[in-house]
Parts: sequence; structure tokens; C-alpha cells
Amino acid sequence: MMTSDLEYVLLPEDKILQRVSEIASDIVRDYQETNPVLIGILKGGIIFLSDLTRHISIPHSYDIVGASSYGSRTSSSGQVIITKDVEISLRNRDVLLIEDIYDSGATLKVVKDLLLVHSPRSLEICALLWKEKKNRAYDIPIKYIGFTIPDVFVVGYGLDYNEKYRNLRCIGVLKKEFYS
Ligand code: IMP
Ligand code: MG
Repeated sequence: MMTSDLEYVLLPEDKILQRVSEIASDIVRDYQETNPVLIGILKGGIIFLSDLTRHISIPHSYDIVGASSYGSRTSSSGQVIITKDVEISLRNRDVLLIEDIYDSGATLKVVKDLLLVHSPRSLEICALLWKEKKNRAYDIPIKYIGFTIPDVFVVGYGLDYNEKYRNLRCIGVLKKEFYS
């Protein structure tokens, strides 16, 4: 079992899904009649996007952008590469960017700037996890936050270490021996 690689579970599956449905209710309340577009970020944000979209009961679309920053390390490189642009038109649409985790903010900064080029009517951000950090490279306003977590490296529910553990249903901290 991959969960045996964890030192501890920070967020169990039921708690994550409960929070996802609460965020979905907030989005339904705020985006009535606006047919918003959710934008997920590869690869970590896909699990969150897929649960969130199915909890949102009003008409909406979703699309995907690709952004890569981490490589295989556990601290942000600060260098973000866009690997895939959106495919549907965002012009005059209400756009909600869906991110797995707000860490240094480098990814959100670059993706946000990319989306603004597509002239949306509005652009807001939803992050499942918000890491508590003293010094953050980029301060970006986040409209919906799932959980505030300590400044630790976590895996599961889309988040990886060396491309592993994305399929864990919970979010947890790896045992030290698994970080090489
Ligand atoms: P940022 O650009 O520093 O904000 O980092 C954002 C990206 O880095 C996220 O989309 C994740 O893919 C990855 N990341 C940041 N913190 C963690 C973590 O604790 N575990 C796994 N991936 C992380
Ligand atoms: Mg990663």
C-alpha cells in the first residue's frame, strides 16, 4: 500500500471531498447565470478539477493549461514553463483558475498572466491548498481556498513526489526515507 510510505495523513479523503463540495456551493452561488470557465493546471490540479466540476450544478465549461515548475525537487525552482495553452475562447468569459496548491506563487503568476492575454471578463483563483509561508515570491489574491496547511511538502490527491503518489486519495507527508 502506498499509504504506508506516509509519515502521517494531513487531510483524509472524506475531509477533502466535504470541502470540495462546500467550495462548489460557493462557486454556484457566485456564478449564477454567468456560465463560467474553470481552468485546471496540469498535472497536479486535475484531480481537484475533476471532483470540483462534478460538484458544480450550474452550466459551465472547463479547459486545461500545462505548467511545469518543480522538476523532481521538493522546493520551488521559481522557473515556470507553459507546456499547453487553453483551447476554448476565454474572451468576455468569467474564468476561474483551479490550482492544487499555492506555494511560492510562481506558477499562478505565470498562468494568470497567460490567461489575461485571452481577455476574460473576470479572472479569479481557487486553490485547494494554501501553504503558510513567511516569505512568498508572489502575492496573489485567491478567492477560494480549500485548506491552509503548514509549510511542509505534501503528496496525494494529484500532488506528486517524482511523479509518484498522485493517485493517493488522501493528502499526506512522506516518510523521510522516501525523499532521496
Ligand atoms: P509554486 O509555483 O511554487 O506556487 O508551486 C506550485 C506547484 O508546485 C504546484 O502546482 C505543485 O505542482 C508544486 N508543489 C508545490 N508545493 C508542493 C507540495 O508540497 N507537494 C507537491 N507539489 C508541490
Ligand atoms: Mg509536481
